[in-house]
Parts: sequence; structure tokens; C-alpha cells
Amino acid sequence: MSDAATVRGWVRAARRIAVLTGAGMSAESGVPTFRDAQTGLWAKFDPHQLATEEAFRANPRTVWDWYAMRREMVAKVEPNAGHIAIAQFQHRHPGRLTVITQNVDGLHQRAGSEGVLALHGNIADDKWLDAPRSCCNIDAVSADHPPHCGRCGNMLRPDVVWFGEMLPVAALTAAEEAADSCDLMLVVGTSGVVYPAAGLAYRARGHVAVINPEPSGLDDAAHAVLRGKAAELLPGLLAD
Ligand code: OAD
Repeated sequence: MSDAATVRGWVRAARRIAVLTGAGMSAESGVPTFRDAQTGLWAKFDPHQLATEEAFRANPRTVWDWYAMRREMVAKVEPNAGHIAIAQFQHRHPGRLTVITQNVDGLHQRAGSEGVLALHGNIADDKWLDAPRSCCNIDAVSADHPPHCGRCGNMLRPDVVWFGEMLPVAALTAAEEAADSCDLMLVVGTSGVVYPAAGLAYRARGHVAVINPEPSGLDDAAHAVLRGKAAELLPGLLAD
């Protein structure tokens, strides 16, 4: 039996499936990954200049505009066949599959997935940089880059997790529960080097299958490794 057929059998038998996704999940939608040596965002940009609170406080306009550029790019792309296969499986099998994603692009949600655990936030959302005071009204911010409270100067920032920041507690707790209770975890399109997200693969109780065209840091945690692309493999794995 091929590895893909084996994983398909695991999908059919599993009562609870967790799907842990990373940037490769959205690659075929046209969203760049982070660590690809040629096209990855971190090959072109320094994460310490763009994805930390210190960077935002030092150069708020630069960081805001970089996220605005990514927001626009993400708004123009569409969920791919992999996102859609996951969402359709959830609709056919309510309560059986939980999506845990490191992606901030919202493509799982746009494909129709319910209850997505977005461990690194969502690039379309904003939040206050500092704890909001009574004058901070999100509907009445200035139109600057970044928008800010006209009274106290508190700035809006993208609601994503930056380096050195905690993950949202509720999403991480729910993701840990999903990992602890699944019979099968599909690890799709992640290099598996960023924790605590990558650590979820080691908590999975049942089978772990990696879907990735390249070697990843989680291949060692897997019972099967499928060397292929998410949008090509997932529709077949999650059929019926
Ligand atoms: P990476 O860029 O580190 O890894 C992307 C993975 O996707 C690589 O292993 C690729 O081989 C794989 N890949 C590429 N195309 C694929 C395809 N079509 N199908 C399946 N896999 C494919 O991205 P992440 O692992 O998501 O964090 O990175 C984790 C975190 O690091 C991100 O959430 C981000 C980043 O810094 C924050 O911004 C907090």
C-alpha cells in the first residue's frame, strides 16, 4: 500500500483529526512562505525589523506599511483546493476535524472552516498597542500609518503574534486539547521550527502524517511523510 493510501485509511478510521497548518498550506494560493531560500519573506526581510514589538515602537510606519502590503496581497488571493477539502470534510463530518493554523491569512476561514484555532492571530485584525484608555475608540482613530488615538496617541497594530510574544491562550489551550485527543494529526506545509506550534505534533496521541514537498523539522515525529503539495494531496486524502 502507498503511504498516501495508508494515510487515507487513517483518515477514514479516525474519530478525531487535528490538522496543523503552516505557510505551505497557502503557497498554492500565491502567499509566500517565510523560510523558502528564494521566495520566502524572511529571505527578503529581516524579521527583527518587522515582526517584533520593539521594531513597531521604533519604526511604526515602516512596520504598519509592511503589514498593510501583506494584507492587500492576502485579500487578493483565494483559498486553494487544500483549504476547501478541509472545510468540506468538516461540513460532511461535524465535530471530527479541528484546524490549528500558524497562518494569519484567514484562508481556512474564507474556505468555510469553522472553529479555526489561529495560533498566530489574523492579519486582517487590529488591536491596541498599549492597554486602551477611556479615550481610545477604535472607530474614531486617525487615518495615519498607523492609525492612532487622537487624544493619547495609542497606536493600532496588527493582531498577529510577533517574535517574543505569547500565543493567544484560549487558542493554544484548545489546540493542545485537540492534539491530545486526536487519533490522527495531519501536519501540512510547516517547516516545524517555530514553537510552541511545532510541539503540538509531539503531543498527538495517534498517528502523525506530514504533508510537505520538502524535508521538515517534524518528519521525525511522523508515522508517514507524504512528499507533495497541500492542494494536490489533501483533496484525495479527505475525500468522502
Ligand atoms: P515556513 O516558511 O517556515 O515553512 C513553510 C513550509 O511549507 C516549508 O517546510 C515548505 O517546504 C512547505 N511548503 C511549501 N510549499 C508547499 C505546498 N505547496 N504544500 C505543502 N507544503 C509546502 O512557514 P511556517 O512553518 O508556517 O510566525 O512558519 C512558522 C512561523 O514562522 C509562521 O507562522 C511565522 C514565521 O515566523 C509568525 O509570524 C509568528
